[in-house]
Amino acid sequence: EKDGHDWFMRKEIFEQPRAVADSLLGRHTRGGQLQLDEMRLSDQELRDIDKIIIIAAGTSFYAGMVAKYAIEHWCRVPVEVELSSEFRYRDPILDYSTLVVAISQSGETADTLQAIRHARLQRSKVLAICNTNGSTIPRESDAVIYTHAGPEIGVASTKGFLTQLVACYLLALYLAQVKGTRYGDEIALVMEQLEAMPAHISSVLDAAPEIYDLAREHVGTRSVLYLGRHAGYPVALEGALKLKELAYLHAEGFAAGELKHGPIALVEEGLPVLCVVPPRGRDQLHDKMISGIQEVRARGAYTICLAEEGDEAITPYADHVIRLPRVPVLLQPLVAVVPLQLFACELATAMGHDVDQPRNLAKSVTVE
Ligand code: M6R
Repeated sequence: EKDGHDWFMRKEIFEQPRAVADSLLGRHTRGGQLQLDEMRLSDQELRDIDKIIIIAAGTSFYAGMVAKYAIEHWCRVPVEVELSSEFRYRDPILDYSTLVVAISQSGETADTLQAIRHARLQRSKVLAICNTNGSTIPRESDAVIYTHAGPEIGVASTKGFLTQLVACYLLALYLAQVKGTRYGDEIALVMEQLEAMPAHISSVLDAAPEIYDLAREHVGTRSVLYLGRHAGYPVALEGALKLKELAYLHAEGFAAGELKHGPIALVEEGLPVLCVVPPRGRDQLHDKMISGIQEVRARGAYTICLAEEGDEAITPYADHVIRLPRVPVLLQPLVAVVPLQLFACELATAMGHDVDQPRNLAKSVTVE
C-alpha cells in the first residue's frame, strides 16, 4: 500500500507529478477558454467581485499566500489572506462583492468551516478549494474547485499542498479570463507552463538521494532557518512547518528582507539556513536574495541554496546548492517546496520519528 516506500508521506511526495497532472486534467483551454467545471458562480457574479479574502490553516494557508501573488498579478483584484482561526474574531469587512476562498485539503477543518459560515451570513460568496469530495466545507460553499491529489494519509500535507497551488493558479487564470485582465494567449502560455510542471517536479525528485545525504548530515542540529522572497516566502514558511511537524525541531521561515529587522540575530556558527532563491529576472528579487544569503553566511550560517539551473551568481555564497528547473517565479513554489519536503522527511526518519503520525497532531482538526 506504500508502494515500496517506508512512509505514506514519502509515497505521497513521489506521487506529486501525477497529482499535479490530474489536477490540471480537463482544464485545457478549449477554443482559448479555460474551463473550471465545478465553478457554480456566474461570470457576472465574478465580474462584480472587488475583493478576495482567502482563509485557511497550516499548509493550506501557505498555498493561500502564493495565491495572493498570482491573483493580484494576473487579475488586479486586492487579496487578503487570513488564518481561519483569526478571521471571525476581527469583525472582517465583508459583503456580496467579496469572494471568500476557503482552502482545505480535508474539507473538515473546524476553524475554516466556522469562518465560511460567518462569511455567508454576511452575504459573501464562498468558493472552496478542497481535496475531499462531499466533505463539509465544499457542501457549505457556493462553488468548489476540487483538487485531485487522491487520498492523503500522511499527517504532513505534501501532494495536498501542490494540488492546492494548482487550483489557486487555475482560479487566478479563470478570474483573469472572466474579468478580461489578461488576454487569451497569455493565459494559454501560463497553462502550457503549468502543464510542464509534472515533468519538472519529477526532475527534482530524481535528486532525492542527494537531499537525503544532506538531511542526514544535519541530524543533531537544534534549529534550522528558511529564507524566501515573493512566492518563495510562503515556501520558506512551509519548509519550516514540515520540519517542525516531523523532526520536532525549531524551524522558522522568514521573508529574506526582514532579516536585518531582527531574525539575523539568531544566526550563529554552523546554523543551517535553507534559501529559496527566486529565478533570475528583470526585477531585483534575485540580487536582493543573494545579498541576504551573503549576510547570513558572513555570520557563520551553513547556507543551502535552492536555485535554478544556470544560476552561478549564488555559487560563492552557497555551502550547498540544490538545483531547481527554470520556471517562472509565480510557479516556482511547485518545484521549490519538494526538496524541503524530502529534507524534513529524511531528517525526521534519521532521528527515528514516526513521519506519518507525528506526535500531538491529527490529520484533520475538527475542533476549534
Ligand atoms: O485539511 P486542511 O487543509 O484544512 O488542514 C489545514 C491544516 O491543519 C494542515 O495543513 C496542517 O497544517 C498539516 N499538518 C500541515 O502539514
